[in-house]
Amino acid sequence: MSSPTRLSARAAAVTHEAAAAPLLHLQVLSKRFGERQILRDVSLSLQPGEIVSLVGASGCGKSTLLRIAAGLDKDFTGLIRVGGDDRPRGPHDIGVVFQEPRLFPWLDVAQNVAFAAGSPPRPDARALGLLEEVGLAAQARSLPKQLSGGQAQRAAIARALYTEPRVLLLDEPFSAVDAFTRMKLQDLLADVARRHGVTLLLVTHDIEEAVLLGDRVVVLGTEARGIVDEVAVPLPRPRERRDANLAALRTQVLDALHAAHAL
Ligand SMILES: Nc1ncnc2c1ncn2[C@@H]1O[C@H](COP(=O)(O)OP(=O)(O)O)[C@@H](O)[C@H]1O
Ligand SMILES: [Mg+2]
Repeated sequence: MSSPTRLSARAAAVTHEAAAAPLLHLQVLSKRFGERQILRDVSLSLQPGEIVSLVGASGCGKSTLLRIAAGLDKDFTGLIRVGGDDRPRGPHDIGVVFQEPRLFPWLDVAQNVAFAAGSPPRPDARALGLLEEVGLAAQARSLPKQLSGGQAQRAAIARALYTEPRVLLLDEPFSAVDAFTRMKLQDLLADVARRHGVTLLLVTHDIEEAVLLGDRVVVLGTEARGIVDEVAVPLPRPRERRDANLAALRTQVLDALHAAHAL
């Protein structure tokens, strides 16, 4: 297992190539469900190592955009490039964490993490190292039903990291857990993102979370208006929740959401 203070080779590389080409480039010209236009002219690029928070009114298409980015919805016009490449993506390119952990109930925690290794999954050193990183080493042989909601979400994060994806997409990952657990999971996510040098696109309805974790907060408009605003968070990570600058940035995001008629 890598030590918590040591950066992975990829994390170190990310630190050194700040202004590189975008790692993830998303361009959705049009996405419809039947007659209904859900997304139009959405363009979003993430730099290597960047964390982008995506906010917007309920129903504006955030989850739809994330599913498109993950390759789970192919019924759209536009393109998705990972590392300048628009070939079909695999688990080494993109990992996903949903609101619910989506663990397999018949597999233990370690097998869930190592799921991508094959069937039946045989937990290896990487799976066990990840479990240690997310604070679940003692639960490796537990079944998902024996975990708390927060623990299950930690397992989902470990599973998403198992394939060493370059980009991690998260769709309101902490909205089902209590406030204290949520804070711990936010700190955990900031920590693993830094250590693994992974680029994050985080959908959240929690404005505090958006500015605490993101380098930018992108506002998706309602009625297929595309990205209507963006608030930069020019503060070094990791951040302190009580930082007065974060409070000012939260207000900026709130104003942007008001202007977008999202509130
Ligand atoms: N599979 C689907 N079929 C039809 N409509 C859908 C489907 N999935 C989502 N929608 C609709 O698309 C819109 C955007 O949904 P979604 O992306 O889940 O929004 P958000 O995540 O921003 O709340 C909503 O109006 C939703 O009802
Ligand atoms: Mg959603």
